[in-house]
Amino acid sequence: MKILVTGGAGFIGGNFCLTMVNEHPEDEYVCLDLLTYAGNLETLASIQDKKNFRFIRGDIRDREFIYRLFEEEQFDAVINFAAETHVDRSIEEPDVFVSTNVMGVQVLLDACRKYQTKRFHQVSTDEVYGDLPLDRPDLLFREDTPLHASSPYSASKASADLLVLAYYRTFGLPVTISRCSNNYGPYQFPEKLIPLMIARATADESLPVYGEGLNVRDWLHVYDHNTAIDLIVRNGREGEVYNIGGHNEKANIDVVKTILRQLGKPESLIHFVKDRPGHDLRYAMDPTKLETELGWKPVYNFDTGMKQTIDWYLENREWWEHIISGDYKNYYARMYKDRQ
Ligand code: NAD
Ligand code: DAU
Repeated sequence: MKILVTGGAGFIGGNFCLTMVNEHPEDEYVCLDLLTYAGNLETLASIQDKKNFRFIRGDIRDREFIYRLFEEEQFDAVINFAAETHVDRSIEEPDVFVSTNVMGVQVLLDACRKYQTKRFHQVSTDEVYGDLPLDRPDLLFREDTPLHASSPYSASKASADLLVLAYYRTFGLPVTISRCSNNYGPYQFPEKLIPLMIARATADESLPVYGEGLNVRDWLHVYDHNTAIDLIVRNGREGEVYNIGGHNEKANIDVVKTILRQLGKPESLIHFVKDRPGHDLRYAMDPTKLETELGWKPVYNFDTGMKQTIDWYLENREWWEHIISGDYKNYYARMYKDRQ
């Protein structure tokens, strides 16, 4: 198979390329990424010379460029990881979220139609379902839970999901969608909770926990997310949505305390700050369909996954220190100035 991986220089797409290029030497992977602030070619350094891997810089919104690429390459499958992904940034500046996450997806869908790509897979998120109450642990998101997005980010992802399913119903485009819970692991940009807290705690800086830290996220190691996507692309049924999650719900404050314990740092670094507007209370996934239909199982639990992740950040400081020494400093000052 020749597979186009869009957004493959980001956190999850980058890990996908690192894993699959080695696990599937018989397949050819073409990685397309715009290299926004979140894209980083250093993530792909260990596979850049592999025979079954190529990187191309480009924008999924650029219709002319995308059509030319599809014409030249004749992909068998497209896996779309490319997106604007940070909820706090979507609250500051929603425009680019609609442009990339909705219009960009439409360009890819049109290209798949025009060049008869055999599979378009959209990497979506549990956030399209909105949130669940904290006091109803029995409730989980299922594939038929109604879409109920809260932030401009999740609204843009939900819009893309609707477009993808409309292209299946109207044009018979062979699509699949996966909706995953929160990911953690190596190469995650340090604006997201876990890498942000690791980077700041390592430097003995205060850790900004929103509200009272009681919001719950359902954490999955990025490796397990990617094995699920690979299975869905190869064996999933056309027109279907698959939830991905590992039954790993944690309150944010407990995640932060786990990081502090593992780094041997004091809890006095924790600093409760103003809450995120519209902050979703709890996410929790039901992955039964993926497990029973496709036989997927995660290999990491939260303890083994967090240990591997924290060790990775300690052993690969140059990867994230480059990021936090540049423009990111201005981002942090701007984003957190009103939260004190
Ligand atoms: P990320 O922000 O780390 O990476 C996104 C990548 O997309 C970057 O490399 C960026 O350069 C690229 N990109 C952005 N705009 C582009 C454009 N117009 N054209 C081409 N490339 C562009 O994101 P991530 O955390 O790796 O998320 C990947 C996907 O997984 C997203 O679709 C996201 O919605 C979804 N997802 C993320 C999580 C999570 O916990 N991080 C969970 C579930 C689903
Ligand atoms: O659930 C999947 C989603 O997970 C993905 O679709 C998104 O792309 C990804 O960014 C992530 O969204 P969240 O908003 O859940 O992730 P984030 O790391 O930004 O925040 C996790 C929780 O931690 C959330 O409840 C907000 C809180 N938080 C976050 C930051 C950055 C803090 O308390 N302090 C912080 O500084």
